[in-house]
Amino acid sequence: MRIIVEEDYQSMSKKAALLVAGQVLLKADTVLGLATGSTPLGMYKELVRMYQEGEVDFSAVKTFNLDEYYLLPPDDLQSYHYFMQENFFKHINIRAENIHLPDGMAADIEEECMQYEKAIEASGGIDLQVLGIGENGHIGFNEPAESLNVYTGLVNLTEETIKVNSRFFSSMEEVPQKALTVGMGTILKARRIILLASGEKKAKAIRDTVCGQVTTQVPSSFLQLHPDVTLILDQAAASLIVD
Ligand code: GLP
Repeated sequence: MRIIVEEDYQSMSKKAALLVAGQVLLKADTVLGLATGSTPLGMYKELVRMYQEGEVDFSAVKTFNLDEYYLLPPDDLQSYHYFMQENFFKHINIRAENIHLPDGMAADIEEECMQYEKAIEASGGIDLQVLGIGENGHIGFNEPAESLNVYTGLVNLTEETIKVNSRFFSSMEEVPQKALTVGMGTILKARRIILLASGEKKAKAIRDTVCGQVTTQVPSSFLQLHPDVTLILDQAAASLIVD
């Protein structure tokens, strides 16, 4: 595991954007695995700036997002479809047909998850997976549990995650309790992985990711088993790592 500690959120975001842009420069038809949440927002903003200044071209890039809420329509302001359009896709030259997110509204969820896995495989697999991390060590929406999903599937969110997510909804009842998420096995199949974390609230999860036992109770700890993972942290998120 490579660990890069940056001074603050802004320099963390810039470093992450440079790594993504570098990947696209090396391979124009890169397949990116993308994450939502507040953490990668700065990275997306920087990538948009780089695109506007002609430093990176997304015309051949394909993307697969990690997750989407179950039964939240794509035009809902809290859906990950909406988030990605607003914060990234509508500002760059990516082709609509190259954008993929799991469809939480699909009539046949099992079929949807199977097709999502097939589409990732047909694209040649994820070249670079961008990850955030939940305060409980979840990755995508792979929550701490007795066992983890290998493939994309429908999962129940933990009470903790529902509480953390409630900040974006007007009432607790509106917060989705289920989501579709790419499974841990598929995430670990990505050729390279970068994980971004910022702020004190993530410090414990980062400590457990780096120094803890590999356990399904901390899904991010499985990243220890991957040969090419880079954590990009700000100082607060890195503050509990012990040598
Ligand atoms: C959600 C997403 C995760 C993300 C996490 C952290 O649970 N499903 O992919 O990593 O939130 O979000 P934030 O970056 O806002 O702390």
